[in-house]
Amino acid sequence: MKSFLSIQDCTSGELKELLTLSRDLKALYKSGKRDTCLPGKVLAMLFEKTSLRTRVSFQVAMADLGGTAIYLKPEDIGIIGKREPAKDMARVFARYVDCIVARTFSHETILELDKWSHEPIINALSDWSHPCQAMADILTIREHCGDLTGLKLAYIGDGNNVARSLAFAGAKFNMQFVCASPTGYELEAETLAAANQILPDCASQTHDPVEAVTGAQVVYTDTWTSMGQEAEKTQRIADFKGFSVDETLMQKASKNAKIMHCLPAYRGYEISDGVMESKNSIVFDQAENRLHFQRALLKYLIVK
Ligand code: CP
Ligand code: NVA
Repeated sequence: MKSFLSIQDCTSGELKELLTLSRDLKALYKSGKRDTCLPGKVLAMLFEKTSLRTRVSFQVAMADLGGTAIYLKPEDIGIIGKREPAKDMARVFARYVDCIVARTFSHETILELDKWSHEPIINALSDWSHPCQAMADILTIREHCGDLTGLKLAYIGDGNNVARSLAFAGAKFNMQFVCASPTGYELEAETLAAANQILPDCASQTHDPVEAVTGAQVVYTDTWTSMGQEAEKTQRIADFKGFSVDETLMQKASKNAKIMHCLPAYRGYEISDGVMESKNSIVFDQAENRLHFQRALLKYLIVK
């Protein structure tokens, strides 16, 4: 595996290896030991959009492993391809650094960087997908729920980048995935079909949040308005009425269903404050695991 662009592109074997490495490195670091396997290695981080978790966890992970990270913020690079073509940027960066993390609007930009870079490219979120998030989520679910096989994850909200990566991650790890969205905001049929091709009948879509959470061990949500969609915010708030993960909805899920959110969370919209702060909320373990997964991913891709 040269790069980490989407869950769909990875084999189940590769994803399992990454999960095991995340678990092992997490245990090592928790025990106070260090795996400084990347001395002298440099990571470039090209971000067209803002970030807290992804940016900081990649920088910390690189420092933990003995390497260095250079962060280029949205103001530094603007939209990739605007000042100079992505294919030129990719070839320049690949001559300076050992790995490139990119957060972009268009997923095509990630693919273009990968096509032209001889060094690994990591997708740190595009409008299409957020694979690092989904893998940290799988690590978190395994820690809290044990065996993943047959677990039901109900995703309530926008059929967006996060939902799409979760659908594929669910399929790769033998889980059931259901997405409940208002009309017009569903995951496209192609994604569900592709997930179902990986694992038959594992992914489905509904317009009914109660139906989705019934029998679910994990209830997941994300913002109704993703980065780049700010102009649609008022319309989206109106359209997503009835799709909040709140106390009333959680009464319909399995008794001890875990609550997940990739963050940032908008309390009072996609999630209530009470649910976010409840004892079954694992959102901060989830955020922490971004670091543990990304440490593993950097080691996996850079130590060839
Ligand atoms: N969940 C996530 O990717 O957060 P950031 O946008 O803060 O990186
Ligand atoms: N769907 C959100 C995820 C943020 C981590 C967005 O793309 O803005």
